[in-house]
Amino acid sequence: MRWHMLADPAGMKQVMLDRLANYPKSEIMKRMLRPAIGNSLFNAEGADWKWQRQAVAPVFTHRNVMALAPAMTATAERTCERLKGCGRAELVSQMMTATFDVICDVALSGREHFDSETFAQAIVGYFRTAGRASLLDFLGFPAWFPRPGELLAASSVHTMHSMVAAAIEARRKQAASPADDLLAHMLEAQDPETGQRMSPEELVFNMQFFIVAGHETTALALSWALYLLANAPEEQDKARAQARGVLGGRPAGPADLAALPLVRQVLEEAMRLYPPVGLLARRVVAQDELCGRLMQPNDILFLPIWALHRHQLLWERPDEFLPARFDAATGAPRHKYQYLPFGAGPRVCVGADFAMMQAQILLATLLQQIRFQPSTPSPHPVMMMTVRPEPGVFLTISAA
Ligand code: HEM
Repeated sequence: MRWHMLADPAGMKQVMLDRLANYPKSEIMKRMLRPAIGNSLFNAEGADWKWQRQAVAPVFTHRNVMALAPAMTATAERTCERLKGCGRAELVSQMMTATFDVICDVALSGREHFDSETFAQAIVGYFRTAGRASLLDFLGFPAWFPRPGELLAASSVHTMHSMVAAAIEARRKQAASPADDLLAHMLEAQDPETGQRMSPEELVFNMQFFIVAGHETTALALSWALYLLANAPEEQDKARAQARGVLGGRPAGPADLAALPLVRQVLEEAMRLYPPVGLLARRVVAQDELCGRLMQPNDILFLPIWALHRHQLLWERPDEFLPARFDAATGAPRHKYQYLPFGAGPRVCVGADFAMMQAQILLATLLQQIRFQPSTPSPHPVMMMTVRPEPGVFLTISAA
């Protein structure tokens, strides 16, 4: 098998936009995700992808995301209260709890069928086992050939799927559902070609993906941002001063965000240094030339977002935490495909606005009231589908 690593903005554009059909998602990633999310939106291709994307898009329009903001503000307030009494805390689990609450609201209008701790443990269990690429993948072994960890992963999948299935079942039993959530849209969705609706299995797979993708990545972005701020007190003070000036003690809402550019810049810079999705993979369909190299059918193409974001030829002082580089007025200009935390082109993350709004509301609300300082142990990044800080983000917490 031949494989390539691409970390060039123009090449990224060719793969993600100009010649998208020639570079579908690779079987390696799909195989890792399939036990948990089947052939749902994230894994699907062609017409199968298109109708599923159209079905969920309305939930993520700007208007609908704005309507979700009160749930985000309420969660930010609760998280702030919880943290204030901590002294020292592990922030990844705190951020996961916060974002999990919000995605359950969006997806299912509540989380009565979910125990967040059990669900969170099952996600980590899955990532640690099936969520790792195996040498067998790189040697081109077929998908049916068992990979190490697959059996262990089955129990995590069962735990997650049974909670999701219970929530769907409860909704089906309701005579008329007034909910305008993701599940309601998926129950209504119809393939325009075949007229088919999602099967019970497709529904579970899609909801499962949204619940995991909808909170895990945002929580990681926030955790890395807090870790970086704890180690850059002057950046933390600047962002806090702006948050205080704008919010005057109350929690942040969507109308405040335009006046809080520093909070946005901190998150953008945190996702540059620690992109929650650090690596994407594609397959080559037909022969093509990419950055002067010949791509042959069935070659594997890795898109290491991590490397792109720290590329020495693209960024000044690439390994330093400098939020001001994202200042639209003074930051250095950059290629549109040089910074890709949410991917790009037609397969760009459908939840990007939602994630950014939630992260900004949470971070502004927390910074206003809490000072974060480093504690031990320090985290190091580990890539297990997502870029996780291991063994966690431990910080000292005091009133600001
Ligand atoms: C900071 C948070 C997030 C990050 C960094 C992130 C990152 C990404 C990336 C890089 C992709 C493209 C994958 C590829 O091209 O192979 C993607 C796709 C996707 N994301 Fe996100 N995501 C985040 C939050 C969310 C949220 C909150 C949701 C939903 C509630 C979501 C739902 C999706 C979906 C459905 C896709 C597949 C879109 C498609 O293929 O049409 N993501 N995400």
